[in-house]
Amino acid sequence: MLLNGKVALVTGSANGMGRGIARRFAEEGCDLIINDLSLDAAERVAGEIRSLGRRAIAVKADITNSDEVENMTQAAVKEFGKIDILVNNAGGVPGTAGRGNSDNITSEEWDRVVDLNLTGPFLVTMSVLPVMKRNNYGKIIFISSMGAVSPCVSVLHYHTAKAGILGLTINLAFELAPQNIYVNAIVPGPVDTTFWNALVPAGPEREALFSAIAKKEVPLERIGRPEDIAGPALFLASQLSDFVTGQIIYAAGGQPLLAHGATFNIEAFLMARAQGRTQSVV
Ligand SMILES: NC(=O)c1ccc[n+]([C@@H]2O[C@H](COP(=O)([O-])OP(=O)(O)OC[C@H]3O[C@@H](n4cnc5c(N)ncnc54)[C@H](O)[C@@H]3O)[C@@H](O)[C@H]2O)c1
Repeated sequence: MLLNGKVALVTGSANGMGRGIARRFAEEGCDLIINDLSLDAAERVAGEIRSLGRRAIAVKADITNSDEVENMTQAAVKEFGKIDILVNNAGGVPGTAGRGNSDNITSEEWDRVVDLNLTGPFLVTMSVLPVMKRNNYGKIIFISSMGAVSPCVSVLHYHTAKAGILGLTINLAFELAPQNIYVNAIVPGPVDTTFWNALVPAGPEREALFSAIAKKEVPLERIGRPEDIAGPALFLASQLSDFVTGQIIYAAGGQPLLAHGATFNIEAFLMARAQGRTQSVV
């Protein structure tokens, strides 16, 4: 098994990619700290991990709150004595309804979205790093987004924060390499998770949107699943990547291969949705 005896903290792991990553790590022998905003939801996933035969604790903490983050790190150290792997996964666009272009963005929304998607991962990393430095070992994985490098809709705060994640990855990798701490990022393409609840409710409309995106934007012609991100995360968390740091892995169905102009216009879709005529744009 690739992660035997290791301990991983995965933020936002009650749902979606975080849950997929945590489960995949557990299958490889890893013990887990399951973090999310809801203790009940985190407990459910911690229970799944235990039923896979691994140890797990659930910790309720908002990654944008430095006190809660520090308490989470202390809870992890108390339970396991170390943190080998940190996956900075929590993030998203809740409450934005897809808005965020130069005509409609507000500075309050900017602060909130940048807090969640850039400052939060920074706070968690700064809290966990002393633990990794003490052990002279660590694998840190950040989750960015295709929108950071090739947006197909203008969401200024989210995409800027996710681009900042890439800068954080590269600078930290450079700084921490002598301490045997590896830092890499995954750039996911569209993945079917609760992330999309902030944009379109689950159901036929979401299916239509996904099939349009898959057909027009993804060379592999499908929407990703959490397991598609868990594979690259396992590589970056394990000794398979012991000569890899400061790297950015696109797990996006080949998306970076497409020219920008080939993308599906999700902004038009969301506008049409507000006017009750989505079928005309998919
Ligand atoms: N799904 C996609 O298409 C997609 C594409 C590119 C990047 N991403 C990124 O991938 C990561 C995982 O997203 P996902 O698709 O699994 O989303 P998701 O909504 O299914 O899961 C995110 C989890 O993070 C938790 N969370 C949110 N805010 C938090 C906070 N302040 N503190 C702690 N936990 C918090 C949520 O409760 C949720 O359980 C996010 O960073 C997201 O921005 C998603």
